[in-house]
Amino acid sequence: MSDPAGHLMAAEIAEQPSVFARVLAESRGDVGEVADRIRDADPRFVLIAARGTSDHAALYLKYLVEITLGLPCGLVSPSTTTTYGATPQLRDVLWVAVSQSGGSPDLVESTRVARRSGALTLAVTNAPGSPVDEVAQLRLHLRAGRERAVAATKTYTATLLTLWLLVDAWRGGAGEAAEDLPRLAEHVVADDRVLELADRFRFAHRMVVTGRGYSYPTAREAALKLMETSYLGAQAFSGADLLHGPLAMVDPGQPVVAVVPRGVGGDAMAPVLASVLERGGDLTVVGNTALAPGVPSAPVPETEPELAPLLEIIPLQRLARAMALARGHDPDAPRGLSKVTQTR
Ligand code: F6R
Repeated sequence: MSDPAGHLMAAEIAEQPSVFARVLAESRGDVGEVADRIRDADPRFVLIAARGTSDHAALYLKYLVEITLGLPCGLVSPSTTTTYGATPQLRDVLWVAVSQSGGSPDLVESTRVARRSGALTLAVTNAPGSPVDEVAQLRLHLRAGRERAVAATKTYTATLLTLWLLVDAWRGGAGEAAEDLPRLAEHVVADDRVLELADRFRFAHRMVVTGRGYSYPTAREAALKLMETSYLGAQAFSGADLLHGPLAMVDPGQPVVAVVPRGVGGDAMAPVLASVLERGGDLTVVGNTALAPGVPSAPVPETEPELAPLLEIIPLQRLARAMALARGHDPDAPRGLSKVTQTR
């Protein structure tokens, strides 16, 4: 008998608590050494190169670096070097290439150019010995194990945890705040309340996903999972950007998923939630459900605000998988996509 549709994605989503436990048990030595090298180099700027899901992990790193280290940080456009042939000045820059496969030619080439242009280069991949690993001076590995479903799940959260550990080590921490993550993630993967939402959204053509600060990457990643597995038009906006115009497209009944963590990032979502409800949007809250009592929700256990994205994406991965199945698709094998995408 063949395996049921979506079994790979289900297994990889369910594996996340043990991946967290493995990363915490095995990665801290490597992370500490890389953090020492970075501190010695004392970079003044951080640039990150990544695509797709890895780009959302990169966005999370950008918030961490800007908020907790007080350093400017940007996401690069690899085409400036690979297509336009620009030669950037990258003295005092830490360049971080984030890639599950470590194999996309544009990431490899832009990292090679960055190193030649004076940057300290770090590759963060799930593929030891991959081309981008070979090109960078420093490397960290995700230890997520092989990922077989096309839609990335466990590699995303393993990337977030590895990047958080790196920033925590850089600022002198030892990663204590993350100790509880495997246990908390066990709760999230076992909480089936989010699956009820899949039925509600089954016939949706488009969906808006929104969050602020550390949770904006969650909104982006959730929209990507919904697009690639359920083929619906899912658009992600920072809560602030939503109010600056796109809110106008929220008609009565328009599904809107808001990612609302505890803390200042979640509090900053209050006017967004009010505006969506005022327009009659069909609002669902993921995270801190206290901010919008009475609306459908998927609660997520409390953790440090910096670490909330590692948990709050899990119900959204499960929602994307369940919606794909409800719509008759196999979320393990989205049409027209393969596991490793090569861009130049
Ligand atoms: C989406 C997904 C892709 C990859 C992207 C980048 O679920 O897996 O978006 O994240 O193709 O690939 P890597 O990380 O291998 O460079």
